Amino acid sequence: MPKRSMVGLGGVALVVAIMLGGTATADDQPSPEDLRIAQSLATMLQSARAVISAHQAEINDPSRGDKGLTSRAVLDQALENYRSRAGVDPLAIDPATYEGRLLRAQMDAVVEVMDANQATINAEGVGFKGFIPATFARLVNEAFGRRVGTEAAIKVTAPPELVRNRQSRPDAWEIAAIRSYLEQADWPTGQTYAAADAGKVRVMVPEYYAPSCLSCHGEPKGELDITGYPKEGAHEGDLGGIISITLTPQ
Ligand code: HEC
Repeated sequence: MPKRSMVGLGGVALVVAIMLGGTATADDQPSPEDLRIAQSLATMLQSARAVISAHQAEINDPSRGDKGLTSRAVLDQALENYRSRAGVDPLAIDPATYEGRLLRAQMDAVVEVMDANQATINAEGVGFKGFIPATFARLVNEAFGRRVGTEAAIKVTAPPELVRNRQSRPDAWEIAAIRSYLEQADWPTGQTYAAADAGKVRVMVPEYYAPSCLSCHGEPKGELDITGYPKEGAHEGDLGGIISITLTPQ
């Protein structure tokens, strides 16, 4: 087993990996500040995605046209969620800083995705529209990527056998982190894995299936869910996905 050193930060336990057989140098360990920024981006993504979750029944309602779920409304609720989760107002973070720039890019990405999907969301007479939290999150992360270029990347990925959308497949580094750490029986539930990799900081925030996920990802394995994908046969509490964040602080 590779050795691990624990770093506590703001109540969130973060783990820094030291490569097996390698020498532990300062370069192997992301700074607490980079880890904090990665957590902040994960919180913003979760805060925005939770808004879509909370409005899912409404979005799927065929009897209603205009849902009032404008980009402004979704962003306002996302900011409120972020404030209550992080105890910090994202708008108070200086947009000239690395973190501030990335958070604003995420907020702009939320606005872009909501504006682009108003016709879909407001279509009367259509029930399920395919506008679900996972798709919303992927679109937001893609829009974020177009804005920030090589400065950072955010992706929701999963263990390879669970991946539905090819865009979300884990890369070799992510697969190794999933197999060697996040899927290990002794890995503490919810604990983030982080390491430096080729000059970048990489952070994996695990997420687990809740009962609400199982109508699509649960049993019986292979049966098609409402979105047309075969169910994975997953169970509550299984590792369902990972918010994977790459930082390249300039
Ligand atoms: C309505 C069905 C449905 C529900 C409910 C659902 N998902 Fe998914 N999930 C999907 C679909 C469809 C995709 C592919 C979206 C895309 O095209 O990016 C997906 C993608 C994902 C991904 C990204 C990786 C991939 O497979 O492409 C993760 C992680 C994920 N879901 C986890 C969850 C978790 C955790 C929950 C519960 C909180 C959940 N899902 C609830 C249908 C669902």
